[in-house]
Parts: sequence; structure tokens; C-alpha cells
Amino acid sequence: MSVGQIIDKLGLYLAKGKLGFQKFAPKIEFNPYSYENLKVKYPLLDKSYELSKKHFWDDTEVFNSLLEKYGFPHIPQEEKDALLKILSIIYYGEIVAMLVASQLLNMVQDMDAKKVLSAQVIEEAKHVTAYQKYLSMLGNIPEIDPNSRCVLDDVLRTRSVALKMVGLHLLTETVAYYLFTALKECYKEPILKGLLDYMARDEAKHVGFARKYLPEVINKISYLEQIRILLKQLEWTFHITASILRLKKAGEILGIDVAKWFERGTRDFLDVAYEIIEKTKFANFSIPKNVSEIISKKILQIISSYN
Ligand SMILES: [Fe+2]
Ligand SMILES: [Fe+2]
Repeated sequence: MSVGQIIDKLGLYLAKGKLGFQKFAPKIEFNPYSYENLKVKYPLLDKSYELSKKHFWDDTEVFNSLLEKYGFPHIPQEEKDALLKILSIIYYGEIVAMLVASQLLNMVQDMDAKKVLSAQVIEEAKHVTAYQKYLSMLGNIPEIDPNSRCVLDDVLRTRSVALKMVGLHLLTETVAYYLFTALKECYKEPILKGLLDYMARDEAKHVGFARKYLPEVINKISYLEQIRILLKQLEWTFHITASILRLKKAGEILGIDVAKWFERGTRDFLDVAYEIIEKTKFANFSIPKNVSEIISKKILQIISSYN
């Protein structure tokens, strides 16, 4: 018998033995070897993955060409401090988004969703890099806002796919998208605007992932978990309100009417959130939309009158 034949036979023998013992090892929930993985189960997710590749951009290349075109930005110190305050929250959020997308990649049970999340991990990594480069031109970044941290830590820690997706794809991504849009529409620094144009398009796609996939995930959870998500959403709303109040002054310095953008963002957030919940078994087991609208109006009044 040749050495090759020995390795062939011995290999088979050892592999069968090792695989036989795997019933005692921790279970892998998703089966990477299933024939089912050949099929596209969610065409909309497949389309989103294809779009991700089509819209791929190189953060280093974009940053360098913007810097070359517009030169080093000379920003007054007061505006620098205001930018650092707002952008630091976004920057920390981008790091958490990258980590949470990679956690979800391992937690979701559908191949199409895993591919979209793989693309999101690299998209968030690009956002992190873009902010690292931009923030290093402004100075030292402040510590994470404690209330924003409470939300981000919760999203990182939870083992619930549904709660993680509500926290990241619905809430954090919407807040990020509106902060980006407010900054690029109101504060006309061209390098930042150039970067935000690319990033806002990615963030809109990430909210789109919630639209397409979150109903599937929520339909599989229990009523108890749904109650937990509703309570967490109320808690997160409180934390986000506290963070936004603290950003009001920085917003004013940069020409951003924080209350106006909060109103715009909340309106869209509620539309997407209720569009999702109406596609699930909890359509009648949620906070009614008009109650949520009353709560958001009250918060808007608080933000508007805060000095
Ligand atoms: Fe991002
Ligand atoms: Fe994102």
C-alpha cells in the first residue's frame, strides 16, 4: 500500500471517528453543508447583497482624493469642538455596528441574510476608517456619551437576534442616517460632506435590511420576547433623548436645528417600525402608532425648549 493510499484510508477512518464524537460537542445551529444553501430564499436580500458589491467604494481612495481636491480643512476651534462632539458618537457607533453585524452574521439562520451581513461588516469597517482619518484632523475625540453607551452596550450584549436587529438596524442606523444627512445638508465642509455622501447611502441600505428581514426574525420570537423588545425600546428612547439634548448646542454651532432633524428622523423611524411590525404576528400586540406619535411629539417639545 502506498503512502497516499494509507493517508486516504486513515483520513477517512479518523474523520468518521471525529465526526461521530461531535454529537457531544456544542451544536452548530446553522448547517453550512445543507443543500438548502444553494437556493435563494429571500430574493430581496440577494438583490441587496448584489447592490452592496455594485456600490462598493474605497474609503482610503475617497478620503485621499477629497483631501487632494479641497486641501486640509481649516475649521474654527468652536466648530471643531462641536464636530468632535457629534462625530465621536457616530464613530463609536460605527465600531459597535461593525461588531454587532459580525455577531449577527453568526446568529441568523439564513444564507441570504448572512451574505448581506458580511457586506455590512466591511461597510462598517470602511466607515470606521473614514472617521478615524477625518477625526484625526480635528483633534482629540471626547469619551463616549454615557447614554449613547447604554444603548450601544445593550445592543452588543443581547443574545436575541430580534433585539440586536431592532437596536442596530432600526434604531442606531436611523439615528446615524439622520445625523449624517443633517451634517451634510447644514454644515458644508466639503471633505466631510464627500465622505458622508457615501456613508449615508450605506446606512440607508442597512435600514433596508431591517425592512426586508426583521419581519421574518420577529415572527419567530415569543410574546414574552416581544414585551422585552417593547420595554427596551422605551428605555432606549429615553437614553437617545438624553444624548440628543446634549448635542443641541453643538448642532446650533454647525447650523443644525436638532429638533427639526429629530422630528424628520422620528417620523421616518415610526413609519419603518410600524411597516415591519404590521408584517408580523404582533401587528396587534404593540404600542399603537398614535401613542408612539404622542410620545415623540412630547420629546420634540422637550428638545425644542431645552437650552
Ligand atoms: Fe456605518
Ligand atoms: Fe450601518
